[in-house]
Amino acid sequence: MATRTRLASALALFALLALAGPALASSGDRHPSFKLCTSLCELKRCELHHPPLAWHLRALLWTCADDCAYVCGHRLTDEADAGRENYHQFFGKWAFHRIFGIQEPMSVIFSLGNLAVNYRGLLNVTKYVRDDNGLHPWLIVAALVQINTWFWSTIFHMRDLPLTEKLDYFSAMTTVAFMLLYAVIRVFGLQTPKSRSPYCFKVAAAFGVFVLSHFVYVSSLALFPYGYHVGVAMVLGLVSNSLWILWTLSFYIRIPTVKFGNHVLTWPYPYPPRNPQLTARPSQANTPSILVVLTMLAMSLEILDFAPLWRTLDAHSLWHLATIPLGEMWWRFLIKDANDLQVAQGGGRLPLSSASGLKQATD
Ligand SMILES: *[C@@H]1O[C@H](CO)[C@@H](O)[C@H](O)[C@H]1NC(C)=O
Repeated sequence: MATRTRLASALALFALLALAGPALASSGDRHPSFKLCTSLCELKRCELHHPPLAWHLRALLWTCADDCAYVCGHRLTDEADAGRENYHQFFGKWAFHRIFGIQEPMSVIFSLGNLAVNYRGLLNVTKYVRDDNGLHPWLIVAALVQINTWFWSTIFHMRDLPLTEKLDYFSAMTTVAFMLLYAVIRVFGLQTPKSRSPYCFKVAAAFGVFVLSHFVYVSSLALFPYGYHVGVAMVLGLVSNSLWILWTLSFYIRIPTVKFGNHVLTWPYPYPPRNPQLTARPSQANTPSILVVLTMLAMSLEILDFAPLWRTLDAHSLWHLATIPLGEMWWRFLIKDANDLQVAQGGGRLPLSSASGLKQATD
């Protein structure tokens, strides 16, 4: 389906605050040569007595018509390489060389890289964060949610079908929403290593209801609303980025208290009871803000959306490549932060672990 163009146009449109739906088809699939090529190909090859596709293509659910679109997309791209034609996208994607029926091998490899990093994150949480740290279960769920997302991203880039596309999009939304929830509970101290606010589960339940109703709503429409879906994810992502930037800022400036009616929302110290403006800043004070800026830069690759190099390496796969080291750095930060907060609250001793600079949880 038309993921690539839709995503890129959605991002661009979002920048202009115009969340209209992006174009549905691409120039390539409307091109007369492509249309002629696919009709001839289907007449010739999509008949009962014609030998079936190779088993590995059928295993990945390639139909004869899909295969014709693949062959014809490459044929028109050959013309572009020869300078007789412009580069076109087909149903929202450039022509990529498939390997054993895998549609976008680079995005598959990089998605697996992200999956591995989040799996390491999961192992590191169990290894370095104490079980009695109240943030421990939230970090475990954060790892599982992201492992699930990268699993479906891998499947989706192997084979772009309506179902795999939905699973990828819905999982990505779950990750963005959960990471925002984590930022909210961490920054406002709804859950700390030592205590939990009575609002904590209410806020989490509100997130759950929001995400589920989003899924029900977008599934109820005849056409999947790409622009709206990506727009919602962007808003959630921007809010969580802003919260982490405020977290960094709170080491430098006093952030005023906000009053709603008779409820007072105080900006907590990042590591209470230390007043961040009076004591030395910890080394990770700037880390989340740096990661936010790097993530936004990497995401701007999506807007470039250039024709893939060697019909293999495109902007979207580079975005997945960039999130591998970013994910690793997020995990190091989240683990160190959860441990430092536990120490600040007077919880267990956490000697420095030699190699990684991570704090090891031992009694
Ligand atoms: C996991 O911990 C190791 C050190 O034991 C560290 O080198 C690595 O960066 C960590 N990875 C993640 C994803 O947290």
